[in-house]
Amino acid sequence: MLTFLFSAIFCAAYLSPIISHVKGRDFTEQEMSHYRDRVKSMFYHAYNSYLDNAYPYDELRPLTCDGQDTWGSFSLTLIDALDTLLILGNHTEFQRVATLLQDTVDFDIDVNASVFETNIRVVGGLLSAHLLSKRAGMKVEEGWPCSGPLLRMAEDAARKLLPAFQTPTGMPYGTVNLLRGVNPGETPVTCTAGVGTFILEFSTLSRLTGDPVFENVARKALRALWRTRSDIGLVGNHIDVITSKWVAQDAGIGAGVDSYFEYLVKGAIMLQDEKLLTMFYEFDKSIKNYTKFDDWYLWVQMHKGTVSMPVFQSLEAFWPGMQSLIGDISSATKSFHNYYSVWRQFGGLPEFYSIPQGYTVDKREGYPLRPELIESAMYLYKATGDPSFIQLGRDAVESIDRISRVNCGFATGICLVGEELRTTGLL
Ligand SMILES: *[C@@H]1O[C@H](CO)[C@@H](O)[C@H](O)[C@H]1NC(C)=O
Ligand SMILES: *[C@@H]1O[C@H](CO)[C@@H](O)[C@H](O)[C@H]1NC(C)=O
Ligand SMILES: *[C@@H]1O[C@H](CO)[C@@H](O)[C@H](O)[C@H]1NC(C)=O
Repeated sequence: MLTFLFSAIFCAAYLSPIISHVKGRDFTEQEMSHYRDRVKSMFYHAYNSYLDNAYPYDELRPLTCDGQDTWGSFSLTLIDALDTLLILGNHTEFQRVATLLQDTVDFDIDVNASVFETNIRVVGGLLSAHLLSKRAGMKVEEGWPCSGPLLRMAEDAARKLLPAFQTPTGMPYGTVNLLRGVNPGETPVTCTAGVGTFILEFSTLSRLTGDPVFENVARKALRALWRTRSDIGLVGNHIDVITSKWVAQDAGIGAGVDSYFEYLVKGAIMLQDEKLLTMFYEFDKSIKNYTKFDDWYLWVQMHKGTVSMPVFQSLEAFWPGMQSLIGDISSATKSFHNYYSVWRQFGGLPEFYSIPQGYTVDKREGYPLRPELIESAMYLYKATGDPSFIQLGRDAVESIDRISRVNCGFATGICLVGEELRTTGLL
């Protein structure tokens, strides 16, 4: 997650006009099949590059064609890729990798791990793989889905995270040593998403294993966060998990906060839980009331509601997807088209985009291959059937192949402008 490195001045007069929504044309089955094949071959370009150059490290470094450990040392890319292998229909590779991970990955290691990242990537990846393993043709053991080797691995990883939740508030520390627990002198300051992004994995784990501890700590952290919202119903960006004091008071939907809201919506749907949905609705009201201007969402001071940063961050592009999941198609479509207009302006989504200036922000102009806008397009397409959302998918394939593809995979793309964009045929 990003911390804020700058602030900017807001000037309402410079806000760009709402992009009018034009219904796109339908794609033929031939075009769809062409793009499906392109996506598959892009996946294998990245995946095989990882296997050839980086395994058993966590991640591939596509520019130097080697590997490095990033979030731990658990061959993270393989864990992350399992569900994609199944979606692409590669059952033999799914089975090979699932078995390989069982034989090689060990969480009893002296690593200072991000509690948030280990949960979403490792626990989440292993749980998905566990639940998909039968469909991938693996022989499952007696009692599946309530038992199985991948479930035991997910549980093992999650147990390593539990010491982080032993705080007076129930909100977890950001970092835990997988062998020793929370380090002495560990900072109590963590971001909002680092507190509120556990309910999906932890409740799944509790319900499969029968041990309520995971769901309980996740819910306790969510309740603690809920109680800290300001009088105007907003949460800030960084909080002290010992005192519940807000340390960074920027309220918005992007870096540092984003997946807290995502997990309220997805948790409400997965668990059919009205309490989670009510929390999201309350936040949604305040976010609309205080941070929304011309269907852009800005950053505001969490107590006063005054604008602190009129910036769109590429991470925020998950928001239209959440709006469409709760049936707010009208808001979703409007913010989606704002974000899509940024994509079209640059042939990719720059990490930060200044709304008053209508331009990228210095040192944050690249497109680091983030999937948020594509996920929103997927939900909106499912909800409406409107082919203009598939058009974003097509643009994404073309742009990523053009600005991010390198010999050993895909790297952060350099966004293009004006003439450059026209000559590459991306406009
Ligand atoms: C599955 O993935 C492996 C590794 O990339 C590859 O060698 C194999 O051809 C793939 N199989 C299919 C059916 O795509
Ligand atoms: C983990 O963090 C602690 C405290 O900052 C430090 O003393 C220790 O050396 C770190 N361990 C590793 C393996 O990086
Ligand atoms: C919206 O903001 C105004 C102040 O600008 C406030 O008076 C009102 O109560 C707010 N409504 C909601 C639903 O937050």
